[in-house]
Amino acid sequence: MADLRSNFVGIKSTNPFWLASAPPTDKEYNVRRAFEAGWGGVVWKTLGSEGPPVVNVNGPRYGAIFGADRRLLGLNNIELITDRPLQQNLREIKAVKKDYPDRAVVVSLMVPCEEEAWKAILPVVEETGADGIELNFGCPHGMAERGMGAAVGQVPEYIEMVTRWCKQNTRMPVIVKLTPNITNIIHPAEAAMRGGADAVSLINTINSITSVNLDAMCPEPMIDGKGTHGGYCGPAVKPIAMNMVAEIARHAETANLSISAIGGVTTWRDAAEFMALGAGNVQVCTAVMTYGFRIIEEMTAGLSAWMDEKGYNSTDDFSGKAVPNVTDWQYLNLNHVTKARIDQDACISCGRCYAACEDTSHQAITMSEDRVFDVDDSECVACNLCVNVCPVEGCITMETLEPGAMDERTNTPVSPDYGNWTQHPNNPSATAAE
Ligand SMILES: Cc1cc2nc3c(=O)[nH]c(=O)nc-3n(C[C@H](O)[C@H](O)[C@H](O)COP(=O)(O)O)c2cc1C
Repeated sequence: MADLRSNFVGIKSTNPFWLASAPPTDKEYNVRRAFEAGWGGVVWKTLGSEGPPVVNVNGPRYGAIFGADRRLLGLNNIELITDRPLQQNLREIKAVKKDYPDRAVVVSLMVPCEEEAWKAILPVVEETGADGIELNFGCPHGMAERGMGAAVGQVPEYIEMVTRWCKQNTRMPVIVKLTPNITNIIHPAEAAMRGGADAVSLINTINSITSVNLDAMCPEPMIDGKGTHGGYCGPAVKPIAMNMVAEIARHAETANLSISAIGGVTTWRDAAEFMALGAGNVQVCTAVMTYGFRIIEEMTAGLSAWMDEKGYNSTDDFSGKAVPNVTDWQYLNLNHVTKARIDQDACISCGRCYAACEDTSHQAITMSEDRVFDVDDSECVACNLCVNVCPVEGCITMETLEPGAMDERTNTPVSPDYGNWTQHPNNPSATAAE
């Protein structure tokens, strides 16, 4: 039976599923219920310095993108860090940690970019018995305008400086939470490393406007006729987060940096994918805000069953296993040729594959008078668009051809042979590809 226990930069938890810093971790009541449901850890909703109170808007805080079945695909928020008093949060963190010693309690922090502000908050957080801190350099709205959050996360020198202050002033492990609102994730990750971070977590939310109210001519969520950009998260951002995690995991200088992956994790499979790409654990926000704490039951059961099936005893056994297979485009094998195949029994003759291929791609799908669709191998470039637009899962698949395969109808080669493809001009370095 797979052992889901996790040790992330010395922080132990009963499983690798933590709740990300957000409303689900904003108070003791929530966190206790999350732990009772089975969550391995939490990153407490971001605390700020004592000072002027944080005040949230009273209008709607969220915008959303839905799938055709109204499943929530992307969530956008304009919420700030916690608006509850610091001392109350600290008391609650201490009480929760005392009662759940086997769960991870990490505290997210965002204070002004001054050493004194960090020196003031670190000891009071440490006193709660929390297992670690996460530096929120990611929030893209509200706090960034005050020189915090993403305003720090977009300047590698600031990341390095604040991380170093924290490492010098606390015994707790320091996780640096990165913003995706940058051009190259490697720069902030390297800065966190230089500052001595124990790990990075990513991603925080993505700058976004989810919709515009065309009657009011105003972005939504709309507060008294005005809107502002918010932070985008949920299933829609998972591909962006996975790429950034993989980039850090495969980049020589950052390859040893521990990663807590965040962004659209909704099922055990999402978690396994992030971990295969190098994450040590995952954090979840939107999925739990959509479905409630009990989704942890399916996540742990699913991950455990899959690990048993694959013979993995612990998450360390597969963490990072996909990283060597993430490469640059020029190292992809040009001799690998596939062609689309349509399962005629499964086909519902909707013609979407035909429309997509005929109008926008390579005219490789033929349609007979009685709407039977077929693939012309000599025209098919294996782009996979037909697979993706087909509404019937598994109806169109890609078949791998042998090198030198011929199209029997036209007697033309459909599988080009580039010989030693590592020597092809596309491939700048034969040795790197091996
Ligand atoms: C309403 C809301 C509030 C959030 N507040 C915080 C916060 O205070 N601190 C923080 O670091 N991240 C915050 N986040 C970002 C999440 O922790 C997480 O990074 C992001 O939502 C991506 O994960 P997901 O796709 O699972 O939601 C917030 C997200 C949402 C939706």
